[in-house]
Amino acid sequence: MIKEELSKNIKVLGIESSCDDTGVAIIDSGPHVLSNVIISQQNEHEVFQGVVPEIAARSHMKNLKKALNIALAEAKMDLKEIDVIAATAGPGLIGGVIVGVMFAKSISSVLKKPFIAVNHLEGHALTVKLTNKIEYPYLLLLASGGHCQYVAVLALGKYKILGQTLDDAMGEAFDKVAKMMNLGFPGGPEIEKKAKNGNENRFKLPLPMINYKNCDMSFSGLKTAVRLIIEKLTVLSEEDICDIAASFQKAVSNIIYKKTKYAINEYEKIAKGRVLVVAGGVAANESLRSVLALVAEENSYHFVAPPIKLCTDNAAMIAFAGLERFSAGIVNDVSFKPKARWSLEDL
Ligand code: KG4
Ligand code: ZN
Repeated sequence: MIKEELSKNIKVLGIESSCDDTGVAIIDSGPHVLSNVIISQQNEHEVFQGVVPEIAARSHMKNLKKALNIALAEAKMDLKEIDVIAATAGPGLIGGVIVGVMFAKSISSVLKKPFIAVNHLEGHALTVKLTNKIEYPYLLLLASGGHCQYVAVLALGKYKILGQTLDDAMGEAFDKVAKMMNLGFPGGPEIEKKAKNGNENRFKLPLPMINYKNCDMSFSGLKTAVRLIIEKLTVLSEEDICDIAASFQKAVSNIIYKKTKYAINEYEKIAKGRVLVVAGGVAANESLRSVLALVAEENSYHFVAPPIKLCTDNAAMIAFAGLERFSAGIVNDVSFKPKARWSLEDL
């Protein structure tokens, strides 16, 4: 069955519903992205300055069919032409993940086409192979709202976590600092905007775990230090906000500069390919990209960052991970159970 399918240009439907973006995408085995639809729930969660899991799950239920119809129309396809259905099956907010997986399983049953349970983090980890001709292995910094880890991407399904945050994810730290200054949600892009007009040297912030000779990280102490500055200032002027944003962003960059060097050391103990890749929503941050480009250059690595709209949560990356798995002969049974927690090392 898989061999027959591979002899033609197969079309993979990808479904993403692990957080607050409802995504449906269609790719072919080129790989080419034929459509990549995102329905954002930002307006629904903004008032709570964070994602409310119950609201997210209900919105995915409402939005998935609409996103599917748009994706099919943009790709000029009929549902019957889909060959493989891939959906995020974890990790993530479990209500939303269950909605997406059930939706995918129903389509798979009706069409009698294979279902593939994709690990969301594997989607992020492989995005670069959708856009660039990159071979395994490579070193990845995965920086999103829920995760922050250095990963040796050794082969499809074969990942070694070299180091990770021991508390907040990098995006979570951006979001929490933004929330302290009422900058809206998600806070990362707002911090970046404010930082552009700020003085990054005004506030000296701690760089937690910087002297530990490994690539584990911590952002919680940094966030607390920002809170103390805000409490001391009592009323924040626009200038204060911009300076805090810039100082915070600089501290994150300094941490990543040092930790990426340690990550390279760890990576070289087990792999050879001199490629450094960034993925996840925080990869949209220009100062993060610049510091990674700098470390890469200093260590003779090639730095690759996929386009921003493929770094933040999207279904094209899920479809692509599905395509890679299908091409390797891996499909899942419809009894596969969604997982709230699911490490890249447990695939
Ligand atoms: O990968 P993603 O879209 O969703 C998760 O899987 O978490 O990442 C979302 C995170 C949020 O924390 C958001 O604030 C952060 O990525 N983010 C940014 C920027 N754009 C998005 N952080 C810093 N600077 C940005 N420009
Ligand atoms: Zn993500």
